[in-house]
Amino acid sequence: MNHLGSIPDRSADARTLRLSSDREGMTLGARLLREGRLVAFPTETVYGLGADATNASAVAGIFEAKERPRFNPLIAHVPNLAAARCEGVFDEVAVALAEAFWPGPLTVVVPASDGGTVCDLARAGLASVALRVPGSALARDLLAAVGRPVAAPSANRSGRLSPTSAAHVLADLDGRIAAVIDGGSAPVGLESTVVACLGGRPRLLRPGGVTRDALERVLGDVVDGPDDPVVAAPVAPGLLASHYAPRARVRLEAVSVERGEAVLLFGAERPAGLSDAVAWEDLSRSGDLVEAAAGLFAALRRLDATGADVIAVGPIPRTGLGEAINNRLHRAAAAR
Ligand code: TXA
Ligand code: MG
Repeated sequence: MNHLGSIPDRSADARTLRLSSDREGMTLGARLLREGRLVAFPTETVYGLGADATNASAVAGIFEAKERPRFNPLIAHVPNLAAARCEGVFDEVAVALAEAFWPGPLTVVVPASDGGTVCDLARAGLASVALRVPGSALARDLLAAVGRPVAAPSANRSGRLSPTSAAHVLADLDGRIAAVIDGGSAPVGLESTVVACLGGRPRLLRPGGVTRDALERVLGDVVDGPDDPVVAAPVAPGLLASHYAPRARVRLEAVSVERGEAVLLFGAERPAGLSDAVAWEDLSRSGDLVEAAAGLFAALRRLDATGADVIAVGPIPRTGLGEAINNRLHRAAAAR
C-alpha cells in the first residue's frame, strides 16, 4: 500500500509548465501528479503544492521544493467524504464537521485507517491523517481525475507568504516544480481551519477559513490544541507518534557498530562492525537525500521491528532535505 513509487525525474522540472484550468490543462496536471511530479493547483484557500500522497518520493519532493527544514505532516486532499473515509476513521464529530463544512476550508485530523494509502512521510510518521475536501470545484475535479489523495501544503518556499495566485507560486517555485494550474485568485486567501477529532473533545489546531463561531454552531464549545502534532500527541494517547519515537533507543552519528544494534545508513560508506549488526539498511546508496527522506519512516519502523535495543544511525549531511531528516532523527533520539 504505502510504497516508494517511481522516483520522479526532477531534472525535467527545469521549466515549470503553466497550465490553464481547461480540460486539457487539468488532464495533464492530473497525469503529472500520477507520475509522481509536483503540480501546484488552486484551492479556495491558497494555492497548494500537490504531490501524490501515496508516493513517498513525490511527497519528499514537496519538502525539497519548499526547502522546508522539518517534515511536518501534510494535508491529504480528496474529492469527497467517501474518499476521505477510505483514508481516515470518522467518529460522529468528524462526520458532523464534514457534513457541515465540506467542501470547504476545513481540515479534519482523524486516526488513519488500516487500509489507508496516505504514505508515512505525508503523515510525518503519525498514526493520524489530515484530510480536506476543498471548496474549489476545480480542485475537486483535479482530485477526482488523479484518483488518489493529493498532499498539498501552501505552494510557497518555506518561510514566505502563502500564494493566492499562479503568479505568486511561480515567483517562489518556478523551475522547481513540474507545473502550476492557473485558476485565478484564491478567494479565501487564508489556509483551512484544522480540527483534530481523535476521540474526546475536538480540538482546534489551527484557526483558518472556517471561523470559531461557525465551528461552535456545530460542535458547541471548541477547545484549542497546539498547532504541533508532537505537542498535540497527548490529545490522543496511544494514537500518535509511534515512530516519531521508535521503541528502540536511537544513537546518532554512529561511525562504528556495536554487536546487536540495528543500523541505519546513508550513502556508500560502511561503518566498522557492520557485520555484528542484527540488521541494517541504507536510505540511499547513491547519497540522494530525496530518496532518503522518502524511505526514512518506513526504514526506522522495519529496524525497530527487529527488536534491537538500539538503532545506530550513521551521519547524514545537513544540506537540503538533510536538515529535515536530521530534525526527525533528533526527535526520535530525544524521545523518552
Ligand atoms: O488551506 C489549506 O489547508 C492549504 C491548502 C493548500 O489546502 N494547505 C495547507 O497545508 O495549509 P499545510 O501542510 O501547510 O498545513 C498542514 C496543517 C499544519 O498545521 C499541520 O500541523 C496540520 O495541518 N496537520 C496535518 N496533519 C496533522 C496531524 N496528523 N496531526 C496534527 N496536525 C496535523
Ligand atoms: Mg504554509
